Amino acid sequence: MMKTLLFNPASIVTVNTSGKNYKRGNELNDIGCLFEYSVIIEDDLIKDILPTSSVDKNKFEKVIDVSDKTILPGLVECHTHTAFAGSRADEFRQKLSGVGYEEIAKRGGGINTTVQAVRSSSLEELVNLIKPRVEHFISQGITTLEVKSGYGLNFENERKLLQVIKFLNEIYQIDIVPTFLGAHTFPIEFKVDRQGYVDEIINKMIPHFAEQQLAEFCDGFCEATAFSSNEIDEIFYAADKYGLKLKLHTEQFNSIGGLDVALKHKAVSADHLEVIKDEDIPKLGSSDTVSVLLPGVSFFLNHTYAPARKLIEQNAIVALATDYNPGSSHISSLSLIMSIAALKMKMTIEETISAVTINSAKALCREKIIGSIEIGKKADFAVFNTSDYSDIVYSVGRNLNFMTIKDGIVIYQN
Ligand code: NIG
Ligand code: FE
Repeated sequence: MMKTLLFNPASIVTVNTSGKNYKRGNELNDIGCLFEYSVIIEDDLIKDILPTSSVDKNKFEKVIDVSDKTILPGLVECHTHTAFAGSRADEFRQKLSGVGYEEIAKRGGGINTTVQAVRSSSLEELVNLIKPRVEHFISQGITTLEVKSGYGLNFENERKLLQVIKFLNEIYQIDIVPTFLGAHTFPIEFKVDRQGYVDEIINKMIPHFAEQQLAEFCDGFCEATAFSSNEIDEIFYAADKYGLKLKLHTEQFNSIGGLDVALKHKAVSADHLEVIKDEDIPKLGSSDTVSVLLPGVSFFLNHTYAPARKLIEQNAIVALATDYNPGSSHISSLSLIMSIAALKMKMTIEETISAVTINSAKALCREKIIGSIEIGKKADFAVFNTSDYSDIVYSVGRNLNFMTIKDGIVIYQN
């Protein structure tokens, strides 16, 4: 057994939940700060949290000195489209000159531009493209990272993306959680045969990817330019039958029934929610479905922000993520997202911290093992180069992470 001491931090932001393992409403503000404590690690788990004055450094095989630093639970990034190829800088230029995101999608661009680039890349090329992106997440203190497929949009290419994600999970110490997003949009060859594509997803992709354990979650995009709520309903029945857990991109530009379908299927998370109707907010407040907010998209597209304050005030379990993708949020900095959430959605600094730790862990069904610094949980930590956790959100666009620890092992140091 390996005994490690995480010694003498300026403060520990535990995000303690007293065993509840998520936070809703007011609870998001309670992040349980400890001063003059150190963390005892046994193998990959948190064994104890003790006053620094009471620990004897000599009793440990390994001592990680984090004097003057602030420790948080390893950050959990619960919504990304990191597995993409190509560039959409030209569409970015069009957007800057006033063409809307949905308009670009209707003209055959958008997601389908990236699909072409993915289809013409080999597995090896994709791996080499995506590795530095994963490393950028690790350098921020992220120890669990969700990555979606969704730019293959046929059996062969969705499988290729899921294989890339699986390979990356094998070569990196962090946990990379695979989500199947075949229902991202309709590929060009199925534009006039929507049911044909839905059937491909249901009869071929879901059964195979579930059986091969290439995906843990099934996600979809319920939107006027993508899937209807009835199509998502059909896909969710199949995904559920094959044991995939559910997530949904919904109420991003239009409210077309996606949220109700997500709640009906007890989806683990409902993501986006920029245009959620006021009367629908209590539905999330009284359910266990996590509201994953993605303010990077609103910032990047100059679009409405999700009503974070109303969701929190009405008891929703709110999480935050980058939605890192080439079209609607080409942003891979989670701390920038925390700053945007604070500045534009009026979340408190404490709420943003709960939203990228314990609540994002819940959005990945890992809230019992990660997301807070509690005895028995994984020894996953983000160590920040400051004695005041406010700086993480206050230093807009700057990576203050100093060290990333996964399973009790230092995997990155700045
Ligand atoms: O989360 N909403 C749909 N999917 C992504 C955008 C993907 C893209 O434009 O490539 C999103 O915003
Ligand atoms: Fe997304």
